[in-house]
Formats: sequence, C-alpha cells, structure tokens
Amino acid sequence: MRSPLLKLGAAVAVAAVIVIGWQNRAIDPPAWTDAEIDVLRSLSLASLPALPPDPSNAVADNPQAAAFGEQLFLDPRLSANGGISCSTCHQPVRQFTDGLPKGQAIGTSKRNTPSIVGSAYSPWLYWDGRRDSQWAQALTPLEDPNEHGSSRLQVVAVIAADDAYRSAYRALFGELGDVSGNDPVALNVAFANVGKAIAAFERTLLPTASRFDDYVDAVADGNLQRQESLYSDDEVWGLRLFIGTANCTQCHNGPLLTNNEFHNTGVLSSPGELPDKGRVTGVQEVLSDPFNCLGEYSDDPMRQCAELTFVRTGPELIGAVRTPSLRNVELTSPYMHKGQVATLAEVLEHYNEAPDAMIGHNEAKPLALTARELNQLEAFLNTLTASAAVHQSESM
Ligand code: HEC
Ligand code: HEC
Repeated sequence: MRSPLLKLGAAVAVAAVIVIGWQNRAIDPPAWTDAEIDVLRSLSLASLPALPPDPSNAVADNPQAAAFGEQLFLDPRLSANGGISCSTCHQPVRQFTDGLPKGQAIGTSKRNTPSIVGSAYSPWLYWDGRRDSQWAQALTPLEDPNEHGSSRLQVVAVIAADDAYRSAYRALFGELGDVSGNDPVALNVAFANVGKAIAAFERTLLPTASRFDDYVDAVADGNLQRQESLYSDDEVWGLRLFIGTANCTQCHNGPLLTNNEFHNTGVLSSPGELPDKGRVTGVQEVLSDPFNCLGEYSDDPMRQCAELTFVRTGPELIGAVRTPSLRNVELTSPYMHKGQVATLAEVLEHYNEAPDAMIGHNEAKPLALTARELNQLEAFLNTLTASAAVHQSESM
C-alpha cells in the first residue's frame, strides 16, 4: 500500500512539472509598435550624431595629432618606472579595459577602469566626472602616484629628449619653450599639449555595430525573417524588458546606452571601504581643475563652457556616479565604479532588489523580475557586443 506521504509527494512533483512547463512554454513576442520602434532606433548606432567638436583642443581632429597621441598612449617611458602606459589598463583587446576590479599599475587605482571607446561623446570624464575634456583627463593618470606616477616635468622631458617626438610636437604646437621648470606656465602649456594629442587619438576610438544594431535595422525595415535570424525569442523579450518594465532606458539611453548623467543606484561599497561620495566631490574637483574648459590652457578664445558654467552641484549628487555605456558590456567585467560586481547576472540581481543606498538615495526601484526574465535581460545585454571593434584594435 502506498503511503499518503508518497502520494502527496507524487502530486507535488506533477504540479511542479506543470508549473515549470507552463513557465517554459514558448510565447512569441508581440510585434513592435511604432512608438517602440522609435525607441529602438534612438538606441541604435545609426542614431549616433557626429562627434561633438572640442573647441578647447585645437588639434582634436588633426590626424597627425592622433598618430602622435597613439604613440604617447602606448609609451611606457611616460611612467615613473618605465613600465606603465595608458594601454596597461586600457587594453585594446579588452575594449580598453583591464578585466580587474581596480586598475593596477605603480599602485592600485581608486576605481574600476572604464572603457574609453566613445568617451569623446561625454561632457564629463571619470566615474565622478572630475574632468571635463579628454585632454584634461589624459593629464591626470600621468601624475597619479598609483598610475603612471610621473610628473609633468618628466613627461615633457621625454618629449624633449626624443627626436621623433620633438619634431611631431613642433609640427603641431610649435617649439617646446622653456620646459626646465623655471617657467611653470610654459611647462603647463607643453603638458596640456601632450593631453591634447592623446585626446586626438582617443576621439578615433568609436563603437562599431553590434548584433543589436543589425536587429534594429531589420525591425525598421519590417524584415521578419532577418529579425528571427538575428535574435532569439529570449533576446527579444530581454530587449522588451530593457526598454519597458525594467526601466533601464531611464538612464541607459541614446546610441551609447548612457545619458552621461550622474545617478545613485545603491551599489554597495567594496568590503572594508567607505562608500564613494561620487559626483558630489567630483564636481568640486572639476571646477577647481586648472586644465578645465574655463582655464587658461583651453584653445577656445570664446570659452564656450556651458556644461561647466551651469553644472549641478547639489547634495542630491552624493553617491552618484556617471551612467556607463553598455556597449560591449559582455566584455568589460567586473562591473560598477569599484569593480564590486563580478558578473552581469549579479548586476541584474542588484537592480532587481534595489537595496537602500549606503550613502544618499538609490534612485532605482525594485523590479520583481522572475529568474527567467533576468536571464532574458542578460541575453539581450550580450547582443551589445561588437566583434569588429576588437579585431580592429588587435592590430594596434
Ligand atoms: C592604472 C591603470 C590606468 C592607467 C595607467 C590609465 N588609466 Fe585611464 N582610467 C583608469 C581608471 C581606474 C579610471 C576610472 C577612475 C575614476 O573614475 O576615478 C580611468 C578613466 C579613464 C578615462 C575616463 C573614461 C570615462 O568614460 O569616464 C579615460 C578617457 C582614460 N582613463 C584615459 C587614460 C589615458 C589617456 C591614460 C594614459 C595617459 C590612462 N587612462 C591611464 C585606469 C587607468
Ligand atoms: C537611475 C539610473 C539607472 C537605471 C534606471 C539603470 N542603470 Fe544601470 N547603471 C547606472 C549607473 C549610475 C551605473 C554605475 C553604478 C556604479 O558603478 O555605482 C550603472 C551600471 C550598470 C551596469 C554595469 C556596467 C559597467 O560597465 O560597470 C550594467 C550592466 C547596467 N547598469 C545595466 C542596467 C540595466 C540592465 C538596467 C535596467 C534593469 C539598468 N542598468 C538601470 C544607472 C542606471
């Protein structure tokens, strides 16, 4: 005779099979509405505008400056120990990141190394936006004791001592001037020019089309067959969540999937560390940076600096960091400003729970998505990978 317990067990097992079967049954995603197609188009690379001009950098779009800047980007002689270059941390084969929680060079950087692809589109650089141009940013790691650990005097001395560099410099900016240190302004001018050449190179690092962009093209063309060959149903459902109930496009919008704004999303600090104050301190740093848009080393006589002039400084910026681009996010782990989160699945768990922030207020709300929906979101994020950019930069 069967025990009642066994019968109950069997009934539960049958019920579980039915529930799981129901959850896994394939539901065709509905067709996109016109309004949704407009949103999809706005996220596609085809909507990326021309590079915004940088009037503070006279050589921003000069190909000779970009070639010189690329050499400087790769040159370890600009570091205190002769072993560190920008590409130590911004590795071309890793979408210009390093795969580490925090950058490692002479010491350990304070934060996670972001990709620099497409950073020419952002009015602010760094997680806390403490620099307002690519050239002003490029000067900072050179003198950061944990990164290149060098000094402007030493960096400019490397240029002065190398015939090829000196003539590349002269062709772009004129004679080096007195860079012995006796004339601090002349030294700063030369140092700023190093940054301007590096920035000209960085402006050439632009994202290339991913499977997502091809999918949006197929949607816009109404080509159903091509849509199905590009995206699985799970990927379509993930994209629907991304622009719909999961509300990701509140911050990750536009063709780079970032609004370039500062938000507090309640990410926990690294173990043993105080929470990062983020933008609230970054904004004070950028306002006092001698190399900022309003400073004397800008090439723009008009000082067109609307971003800096009208910058927000309020206490609501406590714990806020810049929304990162999600292009190639599959390849840029670990995640978040201190590299606290190892995998995309854990990032999505974080958004699903939306815990209270350790400092300031978490702007994101809990999502209550199912495990399956989280997998679908992750499947969609993985379609933002562009293999071409990796190949292109591997030749560097
Ligand atoms: C030790 C590793 C390391 C080195 C070397 C390094 N970086 Fe970085 N880079 C980082 C980290 C970490 C951040 C983020 C720091 C922060 O936000 O506080 C960063 C941020 C940036 C950003 C801002 C990107 C964005 O979207 O905000 C750019 C651009 C950049 N670096 C370019 C350079 C250049 C140019 C050099 C060489 C002159 C360089 N980096 C050297 C680790 C490094
Ligand atoms: C309120 C604005 C906001 C919303 C809404 C938002 N994000 Fe973010 N996202 C950010 C910010 C800011 C960061 C960086 C947080 C940090 O480092 O502390 C980030 C980081 C990430 C990262 C890590 C990227 C990296 O390179 O480190 C991923 C992945 C991500 N978000 C995906 C999503 C998804 C998926 C959604 C929707 C479920 C979403 N985000 C909703 C602002 C937002």
